[in-house]
Amino acid sequence: MHAREIGNGIHCIAMVHWERRLFDSLIPLPDGTSYNAYLVRGNSATALIDSADPALQEELMRELEGLGHLDYVISQHSEQDHSGAIPVVLKRFPNATLVCSTKARDLLTTHLHVPDEHIRTVTDGQTIDLGGKTLQFVETPWVHWPETICTYIPEDKCLFSCDFFGSHLATTDLYVTDQARVYEAAKRYYAEIMMPFRKVITRNLEKIRALDFRKIAPSHGPVYDKPEFIIEAYQDWVSPTMKNEVVLPYVSMHGSTAAMAKHLVAALADRGVTVHVFDLAVADIGKLAIALVDAATLIVGTPTVHVGPHPAVHYAAHLTDLLRPKLKYAAIIGSYGWSSKAIEQITGLIPNLKVEVLGTVLHKGMPTAETFAQLDKLADAVAKAHHQDELVRT
Ligand code: FEO
Repeated sequence: MHAREIGNGIHCIAMVHWERRLFDSLIPLPDGTSYNAYLVRGNSATALIDSADPALQEELMRELEGLGHLDYVISQHSEQDHSGAIPVVLKRFPNATLVCSTKARDLLTTHLHVPDEHIRTVTDGQTIDLGGKTLQFVETPWVHWPETICTYIPEDKCLFSCDFFGSHLATTDLYVTDQARVYEAAKRYYAEIMMPFRKVITRNLEKIRALDFRKIAPSHGPVYDKPEFIIEAYQDWVSPTMKNEVVLPYVSMHGSTAAMAKHLVAALADRGVTVHVFDLAVADIGKLAIALVDAATLIVGTPTVHVGPHPAVHYAAHLTDLLRPKLKYAAIIGSYGWSSKAIEQITGLIPNLKVEVLGTVLHKGMPTAETFAQLDKLADAVAKAHHQDELVRT
């Protein structure tokens, strides 16, 4: 995409990665992604904020081709999807100074082999004057690496936020035009990348809110020209409030666990509890992450493979533990052929989840009337816990 103006002398260079379907060889990207760099021209100096993933660095360099000089490259975040093209940018503009946080210095030299003499570090509140435009740096650690900073230009009331508020979305839109679509993509992004750092993000959000901005320009996805939309969404996601929702990922090999899961879903629905169900054999793991942002309860359903949980359940449980959602309650249901340690093993996979276990139902073979009665009791326990926490609005 060619550079497009988002403010006086400020251009967005969006490198759109339409065909990318996986990030970090882990995160599904159903709608692709983009890497946004921003070119800021002052009266006396020019700066580039962030760069691009190496896969699309030629696109970036084409957009910078006619640029006479570049004085600063601002690296807000050292992960390679934003910093990966910095070596080629510095090769083209050898006199440019690479600006980053103190913690980023080591990361940029070790990950990209950038010569240390190119680097100038900045701390919270420090500024660089471009002539009629001021770059003011805001330390926002752990969104989602320890070194991350945002950049604020007070003259234009514009905040450059890198991953913070970003969305994995390949689009020609410069600004958000479809809020519902961006909300879903940004929530997926938050769930997969930011959620483990919810508490520190809450503090960073407060810091950001103190600035007077009219636009947020992230380094993934479209620019927010009505930024209150994404600020309010983040406020909701990081808040300690949970919803009257259960997330139920399960796998079934011969139908027993599926029959139990389906009975439990209906029983919970009868009791006014919303359930998000994921058959892990086919589920988009990103949608599971999204559902975990708000839910109060996790119920894992598994068959038994060699006395332990199914490998897909093992993976989902470990991933949930890494993402550290708010979750207050948990339960495990499942089935087995002759013997099972699935419950003990799943419990051991989620040490980071400080949850109260509301029950376990493990059945040998196909479920019976007695199994379904146990599942009804579990549904009672979940609904009661949600009621006691006033998650249910009547
Ligand atoms: Fe978009 Fe953490 O990189």
